[in-house]
Amino acid sequence: MKIAVIHGQSHKGSTYHITHMLLDHLNCAKEEISEFYVNGIGSCVGCYQCIMKGEDTCPHRSQIGTLIAALEESDVIIIDSPTYVLSMSGQLKTFFDHMGYRYISHRPHPSMKGKIGVAISTTAGAGARKTTKMIASQMFWWSVGKTYQLPVTVAAMSWNQVSEKIKAKTEQRTARLAKAVQHKLGYVRPGIKARFMFFIMKQVHKGMDYSPLDMEYWKIQGWI
Ligand SMILES: Cc1cc2nc3c(=O)[nH]c(=O)nc-3n(C[C@H](O)[C@H](O)[C@H](O)COP(=O)(O)O)c2cc1C
Repeated sequence: MKIAVIHGQSHKGSTYHITHMLLDHLNCAKEEISEFYVNGIGSCVGCYQCIMKGEDTCPHRSQIGTLIAALEESDVIIIDSPTYVLSMSGQLKTFFDHMGYRYISHRPHPSMKGKIGVAISTTAGAGARKTTKMIASQMFWWSVGKTYQLPVTVAAMSWNQVSEKIKAKTEQRTARLAKAVQHKLGYVRPGIKARFMFFIMKQVHKGMDYSPLDMEYWKIQGWI
């Protein structure tokens, strides 16, 4: 099982530790795990080059190319972020902006529909569920077949402050989640919402030439 992890923060706090709890339960060889940090990726400048001319023309391609390749080669994609002001971290959102060309509406990677996504967020008090929902929604639009969410209210500002009770409960939750992921691996089928969106976009690309590159891509994939 190949796992790609995107950390929405560069420090090793509660979010990082909980992601690693899950990795430990997934019991995967170290060489199969690729971890990335999105801090330092330049903000999207809104040039539309990725969509209209191809992803290699993005001015930040050198900062994101390896990361995206790892996502596409993985079986499981784990994305985490602390909850900041009831949302994901700004740097993670910046990375997601760069993935717009991989939306179902543009050029989704064909391997995504067989993958499992996991969205993880921690919060001191509120908003972790909202954050994991947003992360999961991004993966849906990449056409990831199945996504699990792990929102954790840690009632703390740092991992050292997290109570033993919360740590033990989180240990149990990550163990259960790991089992679910392992059970599902190899059996992922896109749900009805994804299939419906795909159907709609098929009609769009058949009939509208708003992005010739996208249309060509859909033809090459044999989708239209
Ligand atoms: C800039 C910032 C914004 C935050 N916003 C919220 C928030 O909206 N709601 C909340 O309950 N906690 C909030 N927190 C607390 C963190 O979500 C919480 O401590 C989290 O577990 C930190 O994860 P980390 O240890 O991985 O950094 C915020 C913390 C920071 C630094």
